[in-house]
Amino acid sequence: MLTVTVPLGSRAYPIHIAPGLLAGAAQHLAPLCPRGTVAVVTDVNVAALHLPAFRAGLESAGLGVEVIVLPAGEATKSWANLELVTERLLALGVERGDAVVALGGGVIGDLTGFAASILRRGCRFVQVPTTLLAQVDSSVGGKTAINAAAGKNLVGAFHQPALVLIDPDTLKTLPLRQLRAGYAEVVKYGLIGDAAFFGWCEANSAALLAGEGALLAEAIATSCRAKALVVAADERETGDTRALLNLGHTFGHAFEAEAGFSDRLLHGEGVALGMALAFDLSVARGLCPPADALRVRAHLASAGFGLSPQRLGLAAPAERLIAHMKQDKKMRAGILPFILVHGIGEAFVARDVPIAEVEAWLEKAIASPGELEDIGV
Ligand code: NAD
Ligand code: GLY
Repeated sequence: MLTVTVPLGSRAYPIHIAPGLLAGAAQHLAPLCPRGTVAVVTDVNVAALHLPAFRAGLESAGLGVEVIVLPAGEATKSWANLELVTERLLALGVERGDAVVALGGGVIGDLTGFAASILRRGCRFVQVPTTLLAQVDSSVGGKTAINAAAGKNLVGAFHQPALVLIDPDTLKTLPLRQLRAGYAEVVKYGLIGDAAFFGWCEANSAALLAGEGALLAEAIATSCRAKALVVAADERETGDTRALLNLGHTFGHAFEAEAGFSDRLLHGEGVALGMALAFDLSVARGLCPPADALRVRAHLASAGFGLSPQRLGLAAPAERLIAHMKQDKKMRAGILPFILVHGIGEAFVARDVPIAEVEAWLEKAIASPGELEDIGV
């Protein structure tokens, strides 16, 4: 078993990564469940595929299991489900010292974490992520949220889990498109600050996306180590460190909004497109060697990401994309920070990019996309 620690002083917590951990979760969960009962929140897909093994392992260790099953999908991160989950947890008698378990992808993790953050003014919770995106990103770091009428993730709290249990075997049932979407976040860690890891991604992505377990475990551990350091340095994103994790997200978010946050463009697919654009904009501003941007585009395309807004049916007018970007939580006094790069592994926060310049550049970029845009798509 690999263990990565998120070093947050008295709130430090371990991320355990091991195949088979789902069935063997009891030994890690029991010390966090003083009443001997575990409340599990999951979605209908994960309940069908992975709840039986998880439940059996807990019950055979003498733990009681109460389960709340929600519909799958982004729409689940709603006020209505927040109320449903918190009321159910209260009805189950969950106390502050009990651990509420989020078993599922980022949707379940975000909603359950938020419910735990407000339950009796804050109760313990455990992340058991079952998508690659959740295993490398959303289950670590304590960002929890639901969506509001005004936008995605606009209501939430920072609430760190007490423990993260990652079983890479759960990814065996994950559809390739979802696995690839999570892979975008893996590549992101290389592009932000670890050029050698980006090289590792180039060498191993085909086998990783084919489901090679050892490679998945290595990618998950490297990603969690990178994220743990970022979270320890800047837990609440008050400095620039955690903001770097948003590489590709400002552009990606605009296209996700254009797609109505639907299955037309998964979050990770938006991030991949956004990272390609962040490199292109960095080249256009004379900050990054063109060869690095081409290398990134070539890798993302070979991994199967669509990088052409036209082909994706998302070539909206730049003005509209900019309007989506202005909803960004990072916007301060009219200035939208962009995560740009000096090269692969050298991301930084730029606060001197006029939005009008980005709009003009985006209009041109969308009209004449790069030559490698669709390789491998
Ligand atoms: P998701 O939770 O919707 O899961 C994707 C789909 O995969 C769902 O249909 C789910 O039922 C299914 N699924 C989950 N595990 C499975 C498995 N092992 N086998 C088969 N199917 C499985 O989506 P996601 O991509 O995991 O997460 C996206 C969410 O995460 C978004 O709401 C996003 O805002 C949030 N997010 C949060 C953070 C954070 O730091 N908190 C970071 C990134 C993303
Ligand atoms: N996924 C971005 C963050 O956790 O900060």
